[in-house]
Amino acid sequence: MALRTSPEVGGMGHSVKRKEDPRFIRGKGTYVDDVVLPGMLYLDIVRSPFAHAKIKKIDASKATAIPGVLAVITGETLAKYNLHWMPTLMSDTQMVLPVEKVMYQAQEVAAVLATSRYAAADGVAAVEVEYEPLPVVVDPRKALEPGAPVLRTDKKDKKDNHIWHWEWGNKAETDRVFTEAEVTVKEDIYIPRIHVASIETCGCVAHFDKVQDKLTVWMTTQAPHAIRTVFALVAGHVGLEEHKIRIISPDIGGGFGGKVPVYPGYVIAVAASVLTGKPVKWIEDRMENLQADSFARDYHITAELAARKDGTLTALRIKTLADHGYTDAAANPSKFPAGLFHVCTGSYDLKAAHVEVDGAYTNKPPGGIAYRCSFRVTEAVHTIERMVDIMAHQLGVDPAEFRMKNFVKPEQFPYKSALGWEYDSGNYGGALRKAMDTIGYADLRREQAEKRQRGELMGIGISSFTEIVGAGPSKHFDILGLKMFDSCEIRIHPTGKAIARFGTKSQGQGHETTYAQILAEELGIPAKDIKVEEGDTDTAPYGLGTYASRSTPVAGAAAAIASRKIQEKARKIAAHLLEAAPEDLVWEPGKFSVKGAPNRSKTIQEIAFAAYTNHPQGMEAGLEAVSYYDPPNLTYPFGSYICVVDIDKGTGEVKVRRFVAIDDCGNIINPMIVQGQVHGGLTMGLAPALFEEISYDEIGNVQGGSFIDYLVPTAVETPKWETGHTVTPSPHHPLGAKGVGESATVGAPAAIANAVVDALWHLGVRHVDIPITPPKVWRLLRDKGVTE
Ligand code: CDP
Repeated sequence: MALRTSPEVGGMGHSVKRKEDPRFIRGKGTYVDDVVLPGMLYLDIVRSPFAHAKIKKIDASKATAIPGVLAVITGETLAKYNLHWMPTLMSDTQMVLPVEKVMYQAQEVAAVLATSRYAAADGVAAVEVEYEPLPVVVDPRKALEPGAPVLRTDKKDKKDNHIWHWEWGNKAETDRVFTEAEVTVKEDIYIPRIHVASIETCGCVAHFDKVQDKLTVWMTTQAPHAIRTVFALVAGHVGLEEHKIRIISPDIGGGFGGKVPVYPGYVIAVAASVLTGKPVKWIEDRMENLQADSFARDYHITAELAARKDGTLTALRIKTLADHGYTDAAANPSKFPAGLFHVCTGSYDLKAAHVEVDGAYTNKPPGGIAYRCSFRVTEAVHTIERMVDIMAHQLGVDPAEFRMKNFVKPEQFPYKSALGWEYDSGNYGGALRKAMDTIGYADLRREQAEKRQRGELMGIGISSFTEIVGAGPSKHFDILGLKMFDSCEIRIHPTGKAIARFGTKSQGQGHETTYAQILAEELGIPAKDIKVEEGDTDTAPYGLGTYASRSTPVAGAAAAIASRKIQEKARKIAAHLLEAAPEDLVWEPGKFSVKGAPNRSKTIQEIAFAAYTNHPQGMEAGLEAVSYYDPPNLTYPFGSYICVVDIDKGTGEVKVRRFVAIDDCGNIINPMIVQGQVHGGLTMGLAPALFEEISYDEIGNVQGGSFIDYLVPTAVETPKWETGHTVTPSPHHPLGAKGVGESATVGAPAAIANAVVDALWHLGVRHVDIPITPPKVWRLLRDKGVTE
């Protein structure tokens, strides 16, 4: 299935013929950019070259003189309807279009509406904007210094750039353990700003139908229902109430958290469609996607770990500065401004821990999205796995042995962590042992010792991560007040075929397959007879969407529960048909039979037919059920990864020679899909470890705003992944399953970074920040005098 970006910026093979086809196209294999409606208008966006500047004047006269250009929409236009600002998912505010000043390079300044893409692009080039540059704040540490320019001048009482302070854990106890500690290690770790860089960029087609008084928006969203509610909250006052809004999320070419937020382009397209009564398409190009859409990570961390001399870990203390850009548009559950960062005690039985995070405003795009990670878990895992490795090396203990000693043991589950999480199940030693056996750990250590004698640089890195997915129990998890349950609605038709609709939305994870498998297993209806649908708010039950590996833990559980409700009704119908008592029937997937008389049975198909043709008197007809599943706890998948690297002393290049990944996501629904998830996730973990970073110069110019310098690894750079698994079921999930989609992205970077430091420790290197690029390593080697 080919994915494509917008054609005017070198999108991949989008044929003009197809683009101009006036027919409405929708169906399997259809992306937002494939939606073409009669009379459709196109939107393109003028973006700021400055990171911080007053807008003195916008002259649209040359643009509107271009044939085909219908209008130039500015912040002033939207302000008339009070639509120039919108709320972020973290209850901060974000500009749709500015009326006063811009806050980051590539921010939306105005939008051009035209009858063709080409006219819209020409219009963008012809809009003249006069700016007055303002002082730029790039470094979050400087943003918090006294006297730093205050960025959010729109917030009347704001006198600095500090967003929030958040802390968790027992500070006094943690400080006490550190004071008395026999050994401590401390490290500054920066986890840079990165981007999901999904193959498909973001975009939408908004269509306000005046006759039907209904807005339909096809958009690249991972959370269609939440978006519908947000749209209604923002635009209800101009007549867009929730029952008049339909969000359709068609096929999505990769989301990874980047398609959870609402971007200004969506809102402008909706406003333009409401104002003109015409369908309006907005598709961003690759550079807009990289430069202006929500970023991930950007955590400046100082971590300390305490241990006894015998190698027992005792306490963890972390202080973090989170750079949120000009507004906090993180897609976190609202109670957790730093996401689930406080899972940072990881797989280790630490008795004391304390974590503090401060958010800061800077002149950068907003964000803090959960990029293939359950809300800051990658940051947490990277920190603890780096620190454990540093401590092991400091104590002169093998990092595998050190981990084995300090792991939470299988008999300690359910395990209450020092920071309050209740881990459901785990066997960390089992996964690490399997990874060590698979890779031949002891032999590799021998090889490394020999190579070191010869001056060669080889490293072995381990990451034994614990993930936390399945947000979430509604007592703790909500987004903008919406509790984070998820849903499944099943209807079984008279002929025994079924349709199941979900509140989640696959972006390539294969929900159509795995959800059908769950239903087939639970109901005995063949998977081929089950149609799975997601992503249309007019038909699917309300749900919070797909991100943070929550689909299996939450909607997968809803599928099982809804199936079991159907089974209960089916039992009563079968009892009626078999003239037996319901409790005398035995269920095996696909049929009920009478206890002791297996030949007296009714298949689920026969029961479905009877549900509409011969159901018992007093019972409602039909065979359907819905479940809004509120999980009692999160699930805690885990794994152990071992990476072997060789470092080229001439160039500083790090070569991943082997990488073994043993994952445990509880019971597996579809092994091939899980393996695919792990492979993709590992590549997305390799990427920030060695290649990807979005940085800014001192005046806020983005570095890494195109694929020329934002280095997404290809098959050439990607090593052969050696994968395997252990199975430790979740005790509270109806299927014993845990999520898996992001485990590998979360776990892989630390294994690679640990391998690099392991290769260089004897030279006095204690830490290298990711991405570990050849120039970075080469400079380290030069400083140690070992370059070739
Ligand atoms: O929320 P998202 O779909 O991204 O993540 P997930 O729940 O971890 O699921 C990713 C894919 O792996 C889905 O197709 C799941 O059904 C599948 N999976 C599985 O087959 N077995 C598991 N134990 C976990 C996930």
